[in-house]
Amino acid sequence: MHHTIPSSLRSVAVLIAGTVFMAASSLAAAQSTPQPVERTPGAADPAPVHAELVGVFEDFGGRPGLDALMDEFMTILLADPRMRPFFEKVEHDRVKRQLAEQFCAILGGGCVYTGRDMVAAHGAHRIDRADFNALVEDLQIAMNRRGIPFRAQNKLLAVLAPMHREVINR
Ligand code: HEM
Repeated sequence: MHHTIPSSLRSVAVLIAGTVFMAASSLAAAQSTPQPVERTPGAADPAPVHAELVGVFEDFGGRPGLDALMDEFMTILLADPRMRPFFEKVEHDRVKRQLAEQFCAILGGGCVYTGRDMVAAHGAHRIDRADFNALVEDLQIAMNRRGIPFRAQNKLLAVLAPMHREVINR
């Protein structure tokens, strides 16, 4: 028995196959767009874009400046006895990259933040207000060492400050 498909039906089959292929490839394109890996229901956007802060992004030296800032920041955190217990066991390169991505995205630099939301990122650690303040102090030391203008530092800190609600969990 032969399964010859009439030519009129064959072109319909090609059309359907083509449509399915196109749908599959646009799905693949959508899936390849980096998304935060873990989202806690109800958690705030971990990287809200402030397009008006792109001048501040430039003051930080763009993405290369943020990467250099995170090297300095992690060095300071690991040398600080208050912060070392939190950071000594984490993957430093990953956390530095995710921090640079997050700050770059927030400051309108066009980066895509690929890390977890702030609840998920910090849930495994017990963090109180003193811990939060100590981390901000170390960030300020890092920014000063990098020569970031004070006004630019404060613009960034103003956007980070509300995140204490999701970072502090005790
Ligand atoms: C506004 C304040 C803060 C921001 C914007 C922030 C941001 C981030 C980001 C983007 C990550 C990587 C996310 C991920 O792992 O997927 C992270 C991880 C981490 N943060 Fe924070 N953070 C803040 C405050 C703090 C404080 C106060 C502490 C502790 C004193 C802390 C300790 C950690 C640790 C230990 C990790 C690594 C988590 C792990 O892999 O287990 N963070 N943070």
